[in-house]
Amino acid sequence: MSPKLALLGGSAIRRRPFTRWPIFGRSDEARLLKSLRSGHWGKLSGPEVSTFERRFARMHGCRHAIGVVNGTVSLRLALMAAGIEAGDEVIIPPYTFYSTGSAVLETNAVPVFADIDLNTFNLSPAAVEANITRRTRAIIPVHFAGQPADMSALMKLARKHKLTVIEDSAHAHGARHRNHPAGSLGHMGSFSFQSSKNLCAGEGGLITTNDDALAERCRSLHNCGRIPEGAWYEHHILAGNYRLGEFQGAILNSQLDRLESQTKTRDANGQYLASRLAQLPGLYPQKRPAACTRHAYHLFMMRLDQDHFGVPRNAVLAALRAEGIPASGGYAISLHRQPMFLSKAFGPYLPQGRARLNYRKTHCPNSDLICARQGIWLEQRLFLGSRADMNDIGRAFEKIHENRCALAAWAKRKR
Ligand SMILES: Cc1ncc(COP(=O)(O)O)c(C=O)c1O
Repeated sequence: MSPKLALLGGSAIRRRPFTRWPIFGRSDEARLLKSLRSGHWGKLSGPEVSTFERRFARMHGCRHAIGVVNGTVSLRLALMAAGIEAGDEVIIPPYTFYSTGSAVLETNAVPVFADIDLNTFNLSPAAVEANITRRTRAIIPVHFAGQPADMSALMKLARKHKLTVIEDSAHAHGARHRNHPAGSLGHMGSFSFQSSKNLCAGEGGLITTNDDALAERCRSLHNCGRIPEGAWYEHHILAGNYRLGEFQGAILNSQLDRLESQTKTRDANGQYLASRLAQLPGLYPQKRPAACTRHAYHLFMMRLDQDHFGVPRNAVLAALRAEGIPASGGYAISLHRQPMFLSKAFGPYLPQGRARLNYRKTHCPNSDLICARQGIWLEQRLFLGSRADMNDIGRAFEKIHENRCALAAWAKRKR
């Protein structure tokens, strides 16, 4: 007989904490102190951000990288650099963070939602194609959880319809599609260094590109409309100050030293856990196409089908936590169902185009199903641990499945 679930009074599989995040040490302290003591605290006078930009660009197969204040601004500046204008349509997935949509609105453009694939959790190229109109100008695929979207199919569509592709790579530092790094696959890439991200400095963002003209526009857009040969008080376009600071640059440089080995560890652990969990009925870890040659595992994501697993997702989450495995259900609603979209609370943006929009009519059943009933997320830090950590997670799911009748009865009583 299987041991009793911790949630129902048994003993937990795990009491030890998993790896903490962020990871830092003497090298981070030394680099930060050096930057502090140099007195060069701004990007335009110090060496840290420019060094980081060069290193990050090289690591991601790009000629250019532009460090900015966060991964929301990087999306918006990339859209502006692409020449997106008022009323243009930009196709995005509904299963993503708020910023993928807010950045489009803050460019005065219209977010159009195309559903995700139920197995990869990434933008479905067929759904994208079905949403292309004569107003469509760009696509923002999100490499969800750190697994590259189907960039071969999306770039083919983009070429056919002359669209700009901006990869939202906020989850995908170091990920690869057919051995090409995320951020180098579309026309521009957008990264985030917010606290939870695989490479972090509390806050921060970055745009990658191999296009010299786009890079020049992004540089001007993040630096008050200045141009390289211009005077300090000479401003050529409407822009802002979105420069990343030197202290963050210093931290990012020392963190970057660890990224390659951390990414390898996460990918190996993630693949191991995925193959173990896929043995359980009704549990579907994110399907990894052959084109994904490296998964960044910002999240380990799976789908739980209650009809085949035998217990509702939320009861499984409660049982996992009681066993000492931190897990969440992720986004509770698709992005187009957020109050902001339903009430079109877009501030000063889209003043004319707003009347024709009705996000209540947006139909993305895969995203809705995952949000409401099926999604399970495990954080990236768990995957920096040992094989024994993975076995604890695997064992917890197996134990829950073995006790599914007792847990289902508990869930029924709770209803
Ligand atoms: C998919 C996605 N895009 C964009 C962002 C925005 O990044 P930031 O928080 O740095 O503004 C995030 C992060 O939280 C994200 O998860």
